Amino acid sequence: MERKLMESRPVVLKLGGSAITDKLNQEPNPRSDVISRAAAEIIKAHVKNLVIVHGAGSFGHPMAQEFMLKDGFREEGQKMGFAVTHNMVSVLNGLVMDALLVDDFPALSITPSSCVVASDGRIKRFEDQPLRMLLRMGITPVMYGDVVMDERIGFTVVSGDQLASVLAVKLDARKIIMAGNTDGVYDGDPKSPGAKPYSRLTLADLKKIEDKLGESAGTDVTGGMLGKIVELKPAVEAGIPVNVVNATRANSIYRALVDEKVEGTLIEKG
Ligand SMILES: Nc1ncnc2c1ncn2[C@@H]1O[C@H](COP(=O)(O)OP(=O)(O)OP(=O)(O)O)[C@@H](O)[C@H]1O
Ligand SMILES: [Mg+2]
Repeated sequence: MERKLMESRPVVLKLGGSAITDKLNQEPNPRSDVISRAAAEIIKAHVKNLVIVHGAGSFGHPMAQEFMLKDGFREEGQKMGFAVTHNMVSVLNGLVMDALLVDDFPALSITPSSCVVASDGRIKRFEDQPLRMLLRMGITPVMYGDVVMDERIGFTVVSGDQLASVLAVKLDARKIIMAGNTDGVYDGDPKSPGAKPYSRLTLADLKKIEDKLGESAGTDVTGGMLGKIVELKPAVEAGIPVNVVNATRANSIYRALVDEKVEGTLIEKG
């Protein structure tokens, strides 16, 4: 019985915007090779009860930064930035959906701005019934970092990281896989010589290494690696392990999905 329950607990996979787009460029450039390979690995792994979230990468962060969307509505000029940012992240979502659907994988996009309301930048309300019904039917829901309405500050940005963590706790996920563009969480800037990824971190370790976690190498309004870890902590505290892997390396997503040993960082409660 216990095993059956374990098996039915969902897995939340976040495809990082750092992997599926070129974030070093301010222009919205998809990395189509990474998107197609990620889709192929997801399909091959054939995980029951999978929820996919993807980041915004260069389709969202540069414009969100230019119009200061995360800090809320202040002036009329932001409205077009808000609307266009939503449209651009939806375009990226379309590319991810195409890659999944072209290979006959039943997946359906759920637009955060239509089912999430935030309060001061934090997800406050989330109409999750369609998502739960999709899961029960064996159709994979796909969400993404988006702009959403905010009851205190008008609108804001909700990152794919926040969504992945909140969804995992809501659904009592078996694990979270964060698939970005580094071989895990590093003990310094991943680009600096000598920096290495941690293979395992506990909640207690996370407190000690916070000063080693930095911003994104590209534009990111939701805090790069430090923001990601801050978002993931409540899920880890709830006992959900997080696997931080490299989506740009062949088979990392597949191995993480099928619980095989994979290069990266495993974050656990204790
Ligand atoms: N200690 C660290 N370990 C790993 N990456 C780090 C570290 N410090 C800073 N980083 C940076 O954080 C980046 C990951 O955060 P980033 O927000 O850019 O990716 P993402 O969440 O996949 O993208 P998106 O927000 O668009 O989904 C890495 O690519 C790296 O440049
Ligand atoms: Mg990010």
